[in-house]
Amino acid sequence: MKDTTTGSCGDATAQPTAEERRAAVRERYSRAATTGDGCCAPACCGGENDASGGQPPAREVSLGVGYTPEDLEVVPEDANLGLGCGNPTRFATLREGDVVLDLGSGAGIDCFLAAQRVGPTGQVIGVDMTPEMVERARANARRGGYTNVEFRLGEIEALPVADESVDVIISNCVLNLSADKARVLREAHRVLRKGGRLIVSDLVSTLPVPAVLEGNLDAVAGCLPTQREAYLETFRSAGFTDVRIAEEHPYPADYLLSDAGVQAFLEAHPDEAAELTAFAGSIFGAHFEATKG
Ligand SMILES: C[S@@+](CC[C@H](N)C(=O)[O-])C[C@H]1O[C@@H](n2cnc3c(N)ncnc32)[C@H](O)[C@@H]1O
Repeated sequence: MKDTTTGSCGDATAQPTAEERRAAVRERYSRAATTGDGCCAPACCGGENDASGGQPPAREVSLGVGYTPEDLEVVPEDANLGLGCGNPTRFATLREGDVVLDLGSGAGIDCFLAAQRVGPTGQVIGVDMTPEMVERARANARRGGYTNVEFRLGEIEALPVADESVDVIISNCVLNLSADKARVLREAHRVLRKGGRLIVSDLVSTLPVPAVLEGNLDAVAGCLPTQREAYLETFRSAGFTDVRIAEEHPYPADYLLSDAGVQAFLEAHPDEAAELTAFAGSIFGAHFEATKG
């Protein structure tokens, strides 16, 4: 297939394989974990030397997607890489003693927020497949003296978590990165107790992803959205009930359109501008809720 790893939004139209996707995602978030630069946006078509893909700083991104200044105050500083597209714990009614699982926990921001809500009798488990991310999250937990949080290295398509052992699952800007979202949601269903809840913040769009972005590994690793109805249906097919979007907010189109890689691409391919601009304007940050009945 064509080289889709060059960092530009080039003419890549071939679809990456699941393995190529996984490697690109791991590579991007390994870099984010070690350099502190992050990006979770379809804008991440930036050049190899532009790890941020032209994104604003982590704090600004996080405030923009729904965290409060207080949230950012109480978590370890290194836990926020600005990689989220929502604030799932804001929607999760967490109780003292709950067991919470975070799918794709990154540097741990949502795990640390959950840990404060479930208290010392509760437990928070973060799962992430990028070793450098897990190391960073564990270091944050040690520094912050968190005794009710643990981070496990693993893939969310095959969760290292026992059947029916979790009360609430949260996830922030991760499921779209998986090549097999249906399998991830079946796994989520397996590990939840009956009556358990799933709260997912992720990107949705009303328009289909342009082929030029779908074939670009940098864009794929930067969280391309899924069309809203298709995403909702994946929850239902995995057996979840009461599936709904609790809140939705427009995702800033500029995050995509001002990206240096996108700009360069559009200069070379002005005929693609209308489709990319319309697509960028159709992206929303959505908060999904679902229950295991
Ligand atoms: C966009 S970041 C979000 C991190 C975190 N949820 C946050 O909001 O800061 C995506 C994270 O998901 C992890 N990830 C992506 N695909 C995964 C998979 N299939 N299994 C496990 N972790 C995955 C990446 O390693 C990365 O740390």
